[in-house]
Amino acid sequence: MATELYNDGAHLCVMFTDLVREAHGEGVQANQFLVIDHGHGALIDPGGNMTYNALYMECARHFSPQRLAMILASHADPDIVASVSHWLVGTDCRVYISSVWANFVPHFCGAGRTAGRIVAIPDPGASIVLGDAVIHAVPAHFLHSAGNFQFYDPVAKMLFSGDLGGSMVSGAFAAIPIEGDLGEHIAAMEGFHRRYMAANKALRLWARMARQLELEWLVPQHGRPLKGGRAIAQFFDWIEGLECGVDLVTDETYRLPFA
Ligand SMILES: [Fe+2]
Ligand SMILES: [Fe+2]
Repeated sequence: MATELYNDGAHLCVMFTDLVREAHGEGVQANQFLVIDHGHGALIDPGGNMTYNALYMECARHFSPQRLAMILASHADPDIVASVSHWLVGTDCRVYISSVWANFVPHFCGAGRTAGRIVAIPDPGASIVLGDAVIHAVPAHFLHSAGNFQFYDPVAKMLFSGDLGGSMVSGAFAAIPIEGDLGEHIAAMEGFHRRYMAANKALRLWARMARQLELEWLVPQHGRPLKGGRAIAQFFDWIEGLECGVDLVTDETYRLPFA
C-alpha cells in the first residue's frame, strides 16, 4: 500500500509498507520511501531484491522512474539497499551512503556497475539537493549500523529514521501512524531496540541532537510512523533511557557453545 505522508503539490513524500511478501515468511516487514520535489525523485532505503519490481511500478505512478535522481541509504543492510544493482542498471541514479560502507556497496553489484555512482557521506553528515529542496543526512552512527545516517526533510518536517524507531508489525498495520501517547507501541519497539541498537550512550547523544529538529513525523524503516510532537517527544524520552546492545552483554553472552 502506498501512503501519502506529505503532499503540497510540488513536494511529495510517499511510504510503501507492504511490498515485502511476509506471508511466505520471506522477510521482515520493511517500509520504503519516495520523496519527489519539483519532479526530481529520491528513494530512501528502497530495500532488497524482493521489493524491486513492485517499488519500480509504484514509482511509475508518480514520475518516470528512469529519471530517479538518487537513492539515500541509511546503512548497508540487505533490507535497506540489496536491490541497488537493479536501480543502477534501470536508472541514472546515484547512491548516497556512509563513507563507512561506500566501498562495500559494490559487492551487491556486477563489476564496473558502481563506477562514479556511489557518493560517500562523511561522518558529520551532508546536505543533498533534490529539485528545489534539500535533504539533510543526519548522523545516527551505531543506531544500529557503525556508519548510519537518517534523512531529514525540512519541507515535510519529516525524519526518515532508518531502523531507529522501528517496530515489528504486519505490513497492513504499518501504514497506521501512532499519534498521541506511545502507550502499548513501546512494547512493539522494545525488543528490537534492545538487540539491534548498539549502546545507550549513542541513543542519549542522538536524542539530544534530534530534539533540535522541527518534526511533524518520525518515520522508521520498519513498522508504524510516529506523527506529531507528543508521540515524538515521548519517543525521545523513552529511547534516551533504554539500555541496549553492549549495555546488556555479560559473561553469559560470550560462553563457548560447546563448553
Ligand atoms: Fe539494519
Ligand atoms: Fe532494517
